Amino acid sequence: MKLINAALLWWVAISIAMPSAYGSVDQSPKAVEKWFKELRHGEEKLTKLHFYLHDTVTAKNPTTVQVAQANMTSKSPTLFGETVVLDDPLTVGPEPSSKIIGHAQGIYSSVSQEGYSQIMILNLIFNYGKFNGSTLSLLGSNPIFNEYREMPILGGTGAFRLARGIATEKSYAVNVTTKNAIAEHHVLVLHY
Ligand SMILES: *[C@@H]1O[C@H](CO)[C@@H](O)[C@H](O)[C@H]1NC(C)=O
Ligand SMILES: *[C@@H]1O[C@H](CO)[C@@H](O)[C@H](O)[C@H]1NC(C)=O
Ligand SMILES: *[C@@H]1O[C@H](CO)[C@@H](O)[C@H](O)[C@H]1NC(C)=O
Repeated sequence: MKLINAALLWWVAISIAMPSAYGSVDQSPKAVEKWFKELRHGEEKLTKLHFYLHDTVTAKNPTTVQVAQANMTSKSPTLFGETVVLDDPLTVGPEPSSKIIGHAQGIYSSVSQEGYSQIMILNLIFNYGKFNGSTLSLLGSNPIFNEYREMPILGGTGAFRLARGIATEKSYAVNVTTKNAIAEHHVLVLHY
């Protein structure tokens, strides 16, 4: 386990966990249309997010469930074909007891026969602070033994309408027995 980066936590505390000044964004069709019409006056901004994803495979209440695999998956050294659905909490710090600011909901499948790599199809759904009710959609390749895994953010909703960006994932702690893992995420996103 690594030491918690106090400066980063402080940054997160002020930039993500700050109570919302304007509440959640109106998602009615009329409000969305108005937003698009006003877009040309809007300036793109860069938002940085930092959080930890807790992937709990083995526990009384796991956050992931294997939903499919092929006959050959159990014989494959890379678990080719294994498909998992997840609803993992996102927290400010790496401790499981840390403040939850959202969830990563989606699917990953083992898609490589050579190295161990997953395709990640995730919605990052924020439920706290400035981005409460807003989401980001991530689609990318996650070769989990690489130190950093860069994955595209393809869009978003609410405060993140028309967002694009990059999420960088790094394993923070992995228990090889339980397969429970904590991953650190840095997300840089351009939005209006
Ligand atoms: C997978 O294994 C099951 C049980 O051994 C077998 O009945 C089935 O035909 C196999 N499916 C394929 C696609 O090989
Ligand atoms: C997030 O937004 C929902 C819906 O507007 C609200 O019920 C909830 O209290 C908010 N949560 C926080 C922590 O601001
Ligand atoms: C992994 O989890 C098992 C079961 O909870 C525990 O006994 C073990 O100490 C853990 N290993 C590490 C390195 O934390």
